Amino acid sequence: MTTKSILCVGVGVPRLPADWELIAAATPAEARRHYKARPCAVGLLIVQEVDRCDDLHAFLLDHWAVHWIAVLPPAALEQPAWRQLVRDHCIDYHTTPVDHERLRHALGHALGMAALRHDAGPPRANDDAMLAGQSTAIQRLRRHIVKVAAASAPVLIWGESGSGKELAAQAVHAHSPRRKGPFVPINCGAIPAALIQSELFGHERGAFTGAARDKRGLIESAQGGSIFLDEIGDLPMELQANLLRFLQEKTIYRVGGTRSIAVDARVIAASHVNLAQAVQRGAFREDLYYRLNVLALDVPPLRERGEDLLPLAEHFFHAFASERAPRVRGFSSRAAQSMRDYHWPGNVRELINRVRRAMVMAEGRLIQPQDLGLGAAAAAPAPLQLDDARIRAERDAIDASLLRAGRNITLAARDLGVSRMTLYRLLAKHGIAAPSHASYTDGQSE
Ligand SMILES: Nc1ncnc2c1ncn2[C@@H]1O[C@H](COP(=O)(O)OP(=O)(O)OP(=O)(O)O)[C@@H](O)[C@H]1O
Ligand SMILES: [Mg+2]
Repeated sequence: MTTKSILCVGVGVPRLPADWELIAAATPAEARRHYKARPCAVGLLIVQEVDRCDDLHAFLLDHWAVHWIAVLPPAALEQPAWRQLVRDHCIDYHTTPVDHERLRHALGHALGMAALRHDAGPPRANDDAMLAGQSTAIQRLRRHIVKVAAASAPVLIWGESGSGKELAAQAVHAHSPRRKGPFVPINCGAIPAALIQSELFGHERGAFTGAARDKRGLIESAQGGSIFLDEIGDLPMELQANLLRFLQEKTIYRVGGTRSIAVDARVIAASHVNLAQAVQRGAFREDLYYRLNVLALDVPPLRERGEDLLPLAEHFFHAFASERAPRVRGFSSRAAQSMRDYHWPGNVRELINRVRRAMVMAEGRLIQPQDLGLGAAAAAPAPLQLDDARIRAERDAIDASLLRAGRNITLAARDLGVSRMTLYRLLAKHGIAAPSHASYTDGQSE
């Protein structure tokens, strides 16, 4: 993505500096094609006809990551639909006749913001069967996964609920020489005890009432691939013996069957309970435990991956972007802090749920702690002291203004009606990081 290219939708392209590349599209449909071939980070909407904006609205919903600036006739802003479109999708707008200098200035800021995002790089995901994160703990897990994947012995994955055990199992399979074979997940805790044996091992016709024909079990269907036994601690004792036989002999018997069937499937098991303790309690076979526990993987809880927290939240924000309320653009610094302060007992799954909910429910452009159900507001619904309320309101106004201004201090200060010095002081007071660049506009300084 070139940082100085601008996708211009509409007719009547304004005069812009020679080194900015304009990709002109007369209609949203044409813009869609251009964007597919050459994504741009900044877009300019030139609106002339104000009778309807449905096409544009749909187009903007699909291209929400672009920083849009609208140019429209003053009459458009008298119509609720256009006002909402600008509010939801644009970082700035100008009314005609165009003040070219102001427009260049706004586009310069948008390009600067886009360049900053580009520096930070896209959210890191999808690298290892989607096990995103760069913390030491997750990097270690990824290294272990690659080693374990190369071997053929069973794997036992331990981790708290929602920490990513299934994803780790998929990653083991995806890195293994069996990757072209099937990956068959089975939740041992979710299948009724009466059915689990025939589900896992299959049955022969007539084995029991209702067994009208032969049926392959899940283990057989993993032939040439991997079988993932989730919540293995829930496997009834009797089936633990059958599984042990399969691990030792690589053969199974279908229910009601007399011939053994050879199955070449690697077993990957996971548990959120400590199996060693289950063995001591007599709830899990010791011999099976040792068979399974040849190669063990520990998936770290989210609270031990502090540095991954915000990148993961961003990752899910992007992954579920199509569900969000249109005007929601990201997380406020208070929301980020509340996520850092929380201990995440439900781990990544809980993070996903909270982020998705906040993306739908947030009232403003930035997600706040209460949208995530976090922070003092969520924990203690007691009325706020006036001073606290003032401090929060001040902080929210600063957050929103910085966002609108592309983190340009001069513009944000102007927006807030304070001097730059006052804004710097307020940033320090609220612990908001000051933008590191003096200005992101095209060659201008503050
Ligand atoms: N590192 C990660 N990067 C991206 N997504 C993740 C990561 N870890 C977990 N997830 C996502 O979090 C959710 C929970 O992960 P997963 O189902 O693998 O956890 P689990 O430990 O098996 O949970 P449970 O104990 O509830 O079965 C899934 O939607 C998964 O895609
Ligand atoms: Mg699971």
